[in-house]
Amino acid sequence: MPTRLTNRRDERKHRAGVKCPASPATLRAMTEILILYYSRHGTTAAMARQIARGVGAVDGCSARLRTVPPVSAETEAVAPAVPSEGAPYCEHADLRECSGLILGSPTRFGNMAAPMKYFLDSTSGLWLSGALSGKPAAVFTSTGTQHGGQESTLLTMMLPLLHHGMLMVGLPYTEPALSTTTGGGTPYGASVVSGSGPTPRKPDSQELALCEALGRRVATLARKLAA
Ligand SMILES: Cc1cc2nc3c(=O)[nH]c(=O)nc-3n(C[C@H](O)[C@H](O)[C@H](O)COP(=O)(O)O)c2cc1C
Repeated sequence: MPTRLTNRRDERKHRAGVKCPASPATLRAMTEILILYYSRHGTTAAMARQIARGVGAVDGCSARLRTVPPVSAETEAVAPAVPSEGAPYCEHADLRECSGLILGSPTRFGNMAAPMKYFLDSTSGLWLSGALSGKPAAVFTSTGTQHGGQESTLLTMMLPLLHHGMLMVGLPYTEPALSTTTGGGTPYGASVVSGSGPTPRKPDSQELALCEALGRRVATLARKLAA
């Protein structure tokens, strides 16, 4: 099945009656997985796109890609409401509507980046209503260096999702690339080593395979739970 990446422009077109590949009934029947990420230099964004391919490979599943704006002090410029390129900014409705969530952030000092944490800190209303409880979730990250804290970032990214009652999905060793990778890829989630040079290192085939596997695993579980 071809990868189906939905975005807000497609949704607007659909509501406005512009010819759209999927009918409203098909859209309703689709199990949609939200891939929510922050990326400053593009590596985590590339991972998000690969994970979306894994989601799209599961029958009846599609990926919704969303990002979060950077954060700045009150005295600095604020970001425009709509990003000039890439995925739209995430709204709480995206979280309410999804059947599963895959959350990605670059590693910053062994932890998720502040813009993602800032966004998650705005979700207490969803926590109070239990909107995410019982949905499957997974995490992914990229680091500059091989031992720069991928696992600490992945594990700590799980904590708010567990508070929300989400069901965490990892990467088991039944995924062959997990045993052979010499770059990123962990049982706790997908990861990529982007390197410390001026041009980020591209994810290799094993890192990409594990990104795709993560998308496939969350989508498959979401589909089973929906049934
Ligand atoms: C403030 C800051 C802190 C960082 N901390 C780490 C770190 O703890 N370990 C590491 O390996 N890389 C660290 N990096 C590098 C990024 O994790 C890495 O470049 C990542 O691939 C960037 O992802 P992006 O291309 O999606 O923005 C840091 C980068 C910044 C700007």
